[in-house]
Amino acid sequence: MTFLPSPSLLALLALLPLLTIVCGIQSPFLGPESAPKRTLITSEIDSFVNSQLLIWNSSGLSVAVLRQDTSSPGTWNIEFGSYGIAQVDGSPVTPDTLFAIASNSKLFLALSVGLLIKNESLATARGEKLRWDTKIESVLSEWELMDLGMQHEVTIQDMLSHRTGLPRHDYSAFAREGGVSEMISTLRYLRPSAALRETYQYNNLMYETLSYLPQALLNQTFESYVAEHLFGPLGMASSTYSVAQAEERGALAHGFQWDMQDYLVGSNGTRKATVPYFQRPGEEKIWAGAGGLLTSAQDLSMWVAMLLNKGRHPTTNETVVPEDVVDHVALGVSVSRGKAAYPELSPVVYGGGQHRMSYRGHELIEHGGDNPGFKTQVTRFPNDNLGVIVLSNDENGEHIMETVKWQIVDHVLGLEPIDWAQRYADELTKSIRDNQAVTPRPSPAVLPSVSFSAMEGTFRHGAYGVIQPCLVDSKSPSNGACSDMLSTPVVQRILSSPSKDDTTVPTFIVPFKRWFSTHLRFAHFAGNTFNVSVIWTNAEVREAEGYPEGGDVVIGLDDRYEVEWVGGDGDEGDGWAFKGDFWGKGREARALESTGKDTAEVWFGRV
Ligand SMILES: *[C@@H]1O[C@H](CO)[C@@H](O)[C@H](O)[C@H]1NC(C)=O
Ligand SMILES: *[C@@H]1O[C@H](CO)[C@@H](O)[C@H](O)[C@H]1NC(C)=O
Ligand SMILES: *[C@@H]1O[C@H](CO)[C@@H](O)[C@H](O)[C@H]1NC(C)=O
Ligand SMILES: *[C@@H]1O[C@H](CO)[C@@H](O)[C@H](O)[C@H]1NC(C)=O
Ligand SMILES: *[C@@H]1O[C@H](CO)[C@@H](O)[C@H](O)[C@H]1NC(C)=O
Ligand SMILES: *[C@@H]1O[C@H](CO)[C@@H](O)[C@H](O)[C@H]1NC(C)=O
Repeated sequence: MTFLPSPSLLALLALLPLLTIVCGIQSPFLGPESAPKRTLITSEIDSFVNSQLLIWNSSGLSVAVLRQDTSSPGTWNIEFGSYGIAQVDGSPVTPDTLFAIASNSKLFLALSVGLLIKNESLATARGEKLRWDTKIESVLSEWELMDLGMQHEVTIQDMLSHRTGLPRHDYSAFAREGGVSEMISTLRYLRPSAALRETYQYNNLMYETLSYLPQALLNQTFESYVAEHLFGPLGMASSTYSVAQAEERGALAHGFQWDMQDYLVGSNGTRKATVPYFQRPGEEKIWAGAGGLLTSAQDLSMWVAMLLNKGRHPTTNETVVPEDVVDHVALGVSVSRGKAAYPELSPVVYGGGQHRMSYRGHELIEHGGDNPGFKTQVTRFPNDNLGVIVLSNDENGEHIMETVKWQIVDHVLGLEPIDWAQRYADELTKSIRDNQAVTPRPSPAVLPSVSFSAMEGTFRHGAYGVIQPCLVDSKSPSNGACSDMLSTPVVQRILSSPSKDDTTVPTFIVPFKRWFSTHLRFAHFAGNTFNVSVIWTNAEVREAEGYPEGGDVVIGLDDRYEVEWVGGDGDEGDGWAFKGDFWGKGREARALESTGKDTAEVWFGRV
């Protein structure tokens, strides 16, 4: 493991224009005689991207744009734009830099399901065809849900199209000893937020569940199934689900995050590289199907060319994925956005790992990706024969990525440019303002029904696991385990978050190591209600792996959820009722109101 000490990022910023390289690189599968002139990513676009990175102090961006030459089938114009830094030492982004593409991994999962559906020998062996509308209960013995009707009826299509009725429940996910199979067996503890097929609710756990199909049906891991049937045939040689492999190759970008960002108190945070990668080797298995792929603009250009070419290899024209499977997953099933975000856009429908909408009369199919320090967008315009891939290694990079995407699309399709940069800047300002709109804690304080220290202990949820809240009270450390945990430098750092009231507001810290979190912070609001932040820090991982002090990142301080303390009535026992959309429901799903255990999105009962 090599670690490169962080030079002054300010110095790096000054270097940024010099570090920027632009590759008009020809794709390896272009003939040597094809024209090197760049027509898709012009020098105006290069300057525009560089100026965006400077304005937002953003780390890097990797872009690929591709089009098939319709006058000469099998010839593709593929151009790359590589901007800014991939890693904290200033090494530049290249077309081969690996990015965590997060939810853009979902299409690999959806197509893997399609390949299993088309597999005749598998159908013969099972004595039954697998279908898009196969009920998952008939395939996975681990499958059980809280609602029996839903349990029996949920199909593969429902899972792919986010319409099972389950909200995200992302915070229930973590690396389990029993892997994906064990995760599936805990789904029955998760409360639904809608009826089956009532509304669209994005759910990563369903993609995880489907990633178990190759294992259940072929005794093959999902990762090896995708490598065999997708990466291999397409020559996607750098693509991997293995964090260790990507780190060994040294080409994995650092995801930059904004340490101690807390918009509640007007703090933008400090840009820092998340080193090492946010997930550690061995933890990635549970996350592969929903968001685990590490890949490059170069490899993705082959992927998107295959999709534009109706499932056939872009140059050999051999079938990689049957055309009807490529069509099927791009076919809208759920309404993911019932109304257009801007006049030039349409409402959005969702198939399997794919959104579909139109932009100024041009139909497009795309998916975004979002994980700590990485934002990605992979878009194709099937009727215009155009693909645009934009990968950012900045936590705040989403609006830059979207701006650049539209800039390129407007240019290539010959449309009048729209000032997307201004639109997204306005959106950002608004979302920061919304985040800051809080009701202040009542003064004088409205105390809870029991003492704060009576709320400590061990509490359990069947899928989310155990929580042990520790009351921050320097005068009387409650117990040994709590005072050890509370005195660690990282917890002290979390508690030093620049909220002025912090020291006077009764606060709990809860160790909570999950996919996207390491700690919860409960800050007392009024009565039995607390404000919850889901915090993530890599301090412990860095210490365990021997990285120098001071490079750790703390994020999530201005997250906004709620938890209610529920005092026991003898039968039910005490517990914590999480609310305020902790479960991550869909926009149109019903919110739970009122108080008490029965209204908990997620209930942790005392054990
Ligand atoms: C690729 O194969 C399809 C289906 O057989 C065919 O229609 C198309 O013309 C082929 N394209 C090229 C470039 O050979
Ligand atoms: C199809 O199923 C057979 C087993 O019946 C398996 O050997 C093969 O790898 C599968 N291929 C695909 C693409 O799923
Ligand atoms: C599944 O594969 C493993 C090796 O990966 C093998 O040891 C095991 O016997 C196989 N199980 C079945 C049921 O074929
Ligand atoms: C934080 O960032 C915004 C732009 O997003 C900027 O307008 C503001 O001045 C910054 N605040 C501080 C304290 O740097
Ligand atoms: C960019 O971020 C770095 C690291 O947080 C900081 O040192 C520098 O001042 C920032 N530059 C601008 C222009 O905001
Ligand atoms: C805390 O929760 C209360 C009750 O829901 C809410 O009104 C208030 O705005 C929240 N405060 C913060 C800082 O999130």
